Amino acid sequence: MPRPIPDSAIPQHTDDLANGKLMFNAGGCMSCHKPGPDLKDVDAGLPAGGTPLKTPIGTFYPPNLTPDRETGIGAWTDAQFVNAMQRGLAPGGFHLIPAFPYTSYASMKMTDVLDIRAYLATLTPVHAPQKAADIPAAFILRRGIGLWKWIGLDTAEFQLDPAQSESWNRGAYLVNGPGHCQECHTPRTLFMTRDTSKAFAGGPHPEGTGRVPSLRGLIGRGKFKDAADLASALEYGETMGYDGLSSGGMGDVQTNLSKLPESDLRAIAEYLVTLK
Ligand code: HEC
Ligand code: HEC
Repeated sequence: MPRPIPDSAIPQHTDDLANGKLMFNAGGCMSCHKPGPDLKDVDAGLPAGGTPLKTPIGTFYPPNLTPDRETGIGAWTDAQFVNAMQRGLAPGGFHLIPAFPYTSYASMKMTDVLDIRAYLATLTPVHAPQKAADIPAAFILRRGIGLWKWIGLDTAEFQLDPAQSESWNRGAYLVNGPGHCQECHTPRTLFMTRDTSKAFAGGPHPEGTGRVPSLRGLIGRGKFKDAADLASALEYGETMGYDGLSSGGMGDVQTNLSKLPESDLRAIAEYLVTLK
């Protein structure tokens, strides 16, 4: 059964639009919610949705996140937005499929999620109705997700590690929360939940083709010289000759990361190089 976060649990909060934009970029929302082929006249920077997202169970069309009241999320309450982002529940209570990485967003600070909402509300509304997924028996699938969440959805908020520096913790938060790096870099169990004993060890690509490399021991295995080199790889990717970050969806991830402040990229690298 869906267990939504109640309205009363949404904190009083003053919106921070700059933080909302940062979290939107760290969260890679545009990788999936970019305007689809039917929306050629729409600004490619608006998350109007509709670009096909292929998964092993079928093709989904990530929905419109612009503030259009009819076809986007303009009429949603804050609680509805938080429930989609952190519990995988759509208004009306049906389960969203975890190709939308709410399994990672669930560990974000709720105020960061509310800032994303506030930032989205400043964008130009686009009228773009949702396209139905090309999957057999979508309804049965959504019922099954409830059971899956019961075993696989950890809703605990990210905890700081007091033994580590502030920037290491910032990096750990960005990687495991908004950045959802584990969604691809951690292999799955038989139940398609993340195999936490093999966190970041790489494995088959969740979208079905190829493999995702390990993020453990990046320095020891000679992938990068040091944390500073890794931070530049995340910032510049292929344009500076770092060619292991372009295919299998990583190119989009890197493009989104390149929009973060350098201090955040250094924090991400500081955290990643400690994965043994
Ligand atoms: C890896 C692809 C992917 C990424 C990254 C992603 N989404 Fe989504 N999102 C989806 C898919 C697919 C759905 C539809 C799921 C379904 O129909 O069950 C969705 C659904 C949603 C919904 C529910 C909308 C509705 O109309 O039901 C919201 C809200 C949302 N995403 C916000 C975001 C935000 C904000 C970000 C960035 C922080 C983000 N998404 C990043 C794929 C993604
Ligand atoms: C959509 C799946 C996906 C997500 C999400 C993802 N990655 Fe990747 N990543 C890949 C793939 C696939 C490659 C290999 C790309 C290639 O070889 O061109 C890769 C490669 C990398 C590499 C290079 C590793 C090496 O051995 O050279 C780094 C570093 C990296 N990713 C970091 C991250 C970080 C940090 C995040 C989160 C902010 C992240 N990735 C999120 C799929 C993903």
